Amino acid sequence: MYGTKKNQEKAIRYYNKLSVIYDYISNWYYKKARNYAIKELELKNGQTVLNVPCGTGVNFKYFNEYLNNSGHIIGIDLSSGMLGKARQKIEKNGWKNIETELNNATKINQKWLEGYRNEKIAVDAIFCDLGLSGLPEWRNIIDNMISILKPKGRIVILDWYLEKPSFRGDFVKWIGKGEVDRPIWQYLQNKVSDFKVDYSFNYGGVFVASGSKPS
Ligand SMILES: C[S@@+](CC[C@H](N)C(=O)[O-])C[C@H]1O[C@@H](n2cnc3c(N)ncnc32)[C@H](O)[C@@H]1O
Repeated sequence: MYGTKKNQEKAIRYYNKLSVIYDYISNWYYKKARNYAIKELELKNGQTVLNVPCGTGVNFKYFNEYLNNSGHIIGIDLSSGMLGKARQKIEKNGWKNIETELNNATKINQKWLEGYRNEKIAVDAIFCDLGLSGLPEWRNIIDNMISILKPKGRIVILDWYLEKPSFRGDFVKWIGKGEVDRPIWQYLQNKVSDFKVDYSFNYGGVFVASGSKPS
């Protein structure tokens, strides 16, 4: 957990290094949950989707399958190593509708949106994958995310939840530098309409929760 400034810096140094092999782990291990989660975003041509944290940009190609390379994808992450990999993907694929920003997830709020590159944007969908379990401010982050969504906009969270301590839980905490027992989807449930959760992924360790901003 990146609870203190020192821990946060340590986690980011760790992710800078992990970025070299991250895609090999993330692409196969979370494929099923990721495909399901991205479908739940209900993306349509021309829409804007925000990905916090976007890591190495593993989701970008899936977003663009729904957007047909239209609209706007904004990826936020605090690791320059992870973002470097994301930018390589953007360049290699010639995606013109994707922007990345080195920023702290805790800073993504109304003020950030209003100042965003002096453009007026409406956020149609937000995807938080494997990020909130590492951030002690996760409740605030969910609140901020919902506040910057347009009415009826979609929020989807993919993360870990293991109720009981286990060897697997300890391993996930070690490799992801996060926690696995946060009641993240339960918190989201009270904040959105059309709430849905599926916690059957990765042998019951990974959940995908979704909902819409009440209009
Ligand atoms: C497990 S990775 C998930 C990346 C991506 N969402 C995925 O599913 O592949 C966690 C990410 O959170 C990023 N991160 C950690 N603390 C952050 C913060 N305070 N703000 C933004 N990103 C952060 C790390 O740099 C890392 O890329």
